[in-house]
Amino acid sequence: MAFGLFKKKQTEKSEIPSVKAGHLNLTVKEVVNETADAISIYFEQPASGNIQYKSGQFFTLIANINGKQERRAYSLCTSPFVDPHPAVTVKRVEGGLMSNHLGDNLKAGDVMEVLEPIGNFVTTFDSNNERHIVLFGGGSGITPLMSIAKSALNQEPKSKISLIYANRDSDSIIFKYALEQMEKENPERFKVVHVLGEAPPEWKGYKGLLTRDIIKEALDMLPKMEEGQTEFFMCGPGPMMDIVELSLSNLNIPKVQVHKESFTSDAGKKKENAAVSNEIVAREVTVIYDGEEFKYTVEPGETILEKGLEEDIDLPFSCQSGLCTACRGKCLSGKVKMDEDEGLSEAELNEGYVLPCVSHPLTDDVVIEIG
Ligand code: FES
Repeated sequence: MAFGLFKKKQTEKSEIPSVKAGHLNLTVKEVVNETADAISIYFEQPASGNIQYKSGQFFTLIANINGKQERRAYSLCTSPFVDPHPAVTVKRVEGGLMSNHLGDNLKAGDVMEVLEPIGNFVTTFDSNNERHIVLFGGGSGITPLMSIAKSALNQEPKSKISLIYANRDSDSIIFKYALEQMEKENPERFKVVHVLGEAPPEWKGYKGLLTRDIIKEALDMLPKMEEGQTEFFMCGPGPMMDIVELSLSNLNIPKVQVHKESFTSDAGKKKENAAVSNEIVAREVTVIYDGEEFKYTVEPGETILEKGLEEDIDLPFSCQSGLCTACRGKCLSGKVKMDEDEGLSEAELNEGYVLPCVSHPLTDDVVIEIG
């Protein structure tokens, strides 16, 4: 996740220096209205060199709102292979502090503190690949999928890309015209199947919620590839992703071909349960970060990250819900209980990685190395 020189189109450079390791001060180049309640924020490239990121990753934006620092993770909608400037797409959430703050106030020329891009919802592009990439998006879940679609079209001339995209109605389709354009430019390689919750009488596509029947029918009419040559990526509301996962599992699609990006979690609920569980008691933990070792006691009802921040240790974090992996560390000894491990792959779990933002110590010898 390092930033470095990236040999692409030369662009105007921001002269604002970064603040601390992993943080950047980025100048807003442009704010684009995508729909009535969604914007894309384009950033100038830093003077130190273009930002390196992978399609499917996200930035964490940091802002002071009502005197308190807020952080939120937003996926990049741009492709590092195609777009000269990185951008994230932000949809207003009812009552959402950050999304409404950005929608109401942000303008070109503003400087935002941003954490370097991270995330595992990625794939490796190769011009020799001949695969079918099937994307399932719901609402603003299109954002990382847009980046993946653009990169795949640009980098894999022999691959086909299909997008099954569910929205409330036609006006809420983010990137509607950009997607139409991509379809026109790649008629043999890119197909979008829209599903609208509320559709006008003349609408010829799918109507209603994304169901197992619609998924099956849509998949039946999409291109067929050799066995194992189709990969699925999904991002959207939880219930939509549950339906997609179930449908793919019923079609005997191996899990290894299915990639999922969640942006909601029930870690808060599980944390409450953890607080009353007998196995979680106050215990001292050791956290190693940035070459320093910190020891502190974590009480039931708080997480290892929360207590660390309370102790004024400048630990990395973003979502605080066990989804984004910004806080990821390796448990070198002892055992922890995670309220949520959605953000970690099976391989990471097997290697001992944990997410301190949702972790409670279960033994007295917990040592976690972050970074
Ligand atoms: S801060 Fe996002 S997973 Fe911990």
